[in-house]
Amino acid sequence: MDYSSLKIPNHVAIILDGNGRWAKEKGMSRSKGHEEGFNNLKKLSKYILSKGIKVFSVYAFSTENFNRSTEEVDFLMNLFVKGFKKEKNYFNKENIKVVFSGRRENLRKDVLESMDELANLTKNNTGGILNICLNYGGHFEIIDACRKMIKENINPEDIDEELFNKYLYQDLPPIDYLIRTSGEIRVSNFMLWQMSYAEFYFPNTYFPDFNEEEFDKAIIEYTKRDRRFGKIDYDKK
Ligand code: FPP
Repeated sequence: MDYSSLKIPNHVAIILDGNGRWAKEKGMSRSKGHEEGFNNLKKLSKYILSKGIKVFSVYAFSTENFNRSTEEVDFLMNLFVKGFKKEKNYFNKENIKVVFSGRRENLRKDVLESMDELANLTKNNTGGILNICLNYGGHFEIIDACRKMIKENINPEDIDEELFNKYLYQDLPPIDYLIRTSGEIRVSNFMLWQMSYAEFYFPNTYFPDFNEEEFDKAIIEYTKRDRRFGKIDYDKK
C-alpha cells in the first residue's frame, strides 16, 4: 500500500502474541505456531522498515517465558539459533540493523553466539533497526540501567531522561505505536520506559496472520489518532 498520505510513526513495537492459539485452531502443535511467527516476523520487518519507520521492536521472549515447559523453552531457543543463523544474510541484504535487548544471563551459549553473530554482521546497516527483545523484562531493564549508572559513579544531579535512555539496553527513540496481536489488552512488562506516550492498538489477529494488510490497517488507525503529549490545542477545543 502507498503510505504517502499516512502518518508514519518513528518507532513501532509489537508484542508478538497468539502463535500458540493460531496453531491450536488449525490442529497443529504450538511449535508450528512459533515457526510461522518467525517466518511472519521476517517478512513483516522488511515491510515495516521499508515504509519509513526507523525502529521496529518486538517481544520475542520475556524473562517470565522461562516459566513455560522445558520442551517449549528449548524449542524456542533452538528456533532462535536456527532462525538467526539461517536468516542473517537476509537481514544483512535488506540493510536491516538487528540489535537485541534483554539480560544475557540464563541464555544458552549457542543462543548468545547466534545473537552476537547477527548483530555484528548487521551493525553498520542503515535501512532501519530491528530491536529483538529476548530474555527481556521492562522492570529489569530499568533496574539494570540504574545498576550500571551506580557502578560508573554517575552524579545523581546529571541524570535526566536523555542520559537514562543511554543506560538502557539500547539507546532508542520513544515508541510511537504499540501493537499487541491476538486480542489481549495488556503490556506485560514490555518496554515500559519507552512507551510512556505510545498510542496503543490491539487487533484480534494472531501474530502469524498479522501480515502486510493487517499492518496497513494499523497505520490507517494510527493516522487518525490525535497525539497531544499532555498539551491542549485551545484553538481546536
Ligand atoms: C507468543 O505466542 C509468542 C512468543 C512466546 C514468542 C515467540 C515468538 C516467535 C517465535 C516469533 C518471533 C521470533 C523471533 C526470533 C523474534 P504465545 O505462545 O504466547 O501464543 P498463545 O498466547 O496463543 O499461547
